[in-house]
Amino acid sequence: MSVSFKAYRQFNTPSLQGLSGLRVPLSDELSKHFSAERHIDRFALALAARRAVPIKELLESAEFYMRVRRRVRRQTMVDLCAGHGLVGVLFGMFEREVNSVVLLDRRRPASFARVLEAAAEVAPWITDKVRYVQAPLKQAGEHVPQGAGIVAVHACGVRTDRCLELAVARRSTIAVMPCCYAQTARPAPRALQAALGAELATDIDRTYRLERSGYSVDWSSIPESITPTNRVLIGVPGRSAL
Ligand SMILES: C[S@@+](CC[C@H](N)C(=O)[O-])C[C@H]1O[C@@H](n2cnc3c(N)ncnc32)[C@H](O)[C@@H]1O
Repeated sequence: MSVSFKAYRQFNTPSLQGLSGLRVPLSDELSKHFSAERHIDRFALALAARRAVPIKELLESAEFYMRVRRRVRRQTMVDLCAGHGLVGVLFGMFEREVNSVVLLDRRRPASFARVLEAAAEVAPWITDKVRYVQAPLKQAGEHVPQGAGIVAVHACGVRTDRCLELAVARRSTIAVMPCCYAQTARPAPRALQAALGAELATDIDRTYRLERSGYSVDWSSIPESITPTNRVLIGVPGRSAL
């Protein structure tokens, strides 16, 4: 079943879908695909003017954000293994109730300054909300207040599991889009891996772990034309059926 674009609906046009997974810079040349009438498109135009990120990165982050925003948003949002920081920045730009955004990565990339500048052009309030913490994930606990919302897109392998554990410890809402399944912390049962494949089995295992910790978990996905590792797990504490 194909999944629609929600943030940038123009990419539902088959002729544009091929662009969505490209690692080429979002540049003035691609600006014609965005309209100045919508805020989220204006952000794309501001990023394009600065050649801040590849088009794939914007679409990946924005489509993830659109699917998780309502369930995960909290006054403080923490984007773990944030890289360019687009997901956290989108929360700070477009969610009124989010008043603080922490982006954490062991290395703050040069692209972040351009991302923040582009965001401030569209949403000037963002500058005061965002803080980039350059630190390893094992120190993330110091920066995640109780009840914050956590997001982690392609945190890679075991780091996704660390993010889930931190969420449980802080009773945080959490949304992750896992990748690099070969390195997961607790491999799912061998039988499930054999029957379902390591990726699906691992995310089922993660889902049970969250539910047993008192979370209600939903799955979603972003369009596969952006990335094949497109499954999204969304966990909200306090409503588990298990
Ligand atoms: C695949 S990138 C994902 C970046 C971003 N979330 C995105 O969606 O584009 C993984 C990120 O994890 C960061 N990272 C890797 N190991 C880390 C660690 N131990 N602590 C903190 N960040 C780490 C890398 O610097 C990189 O930015």
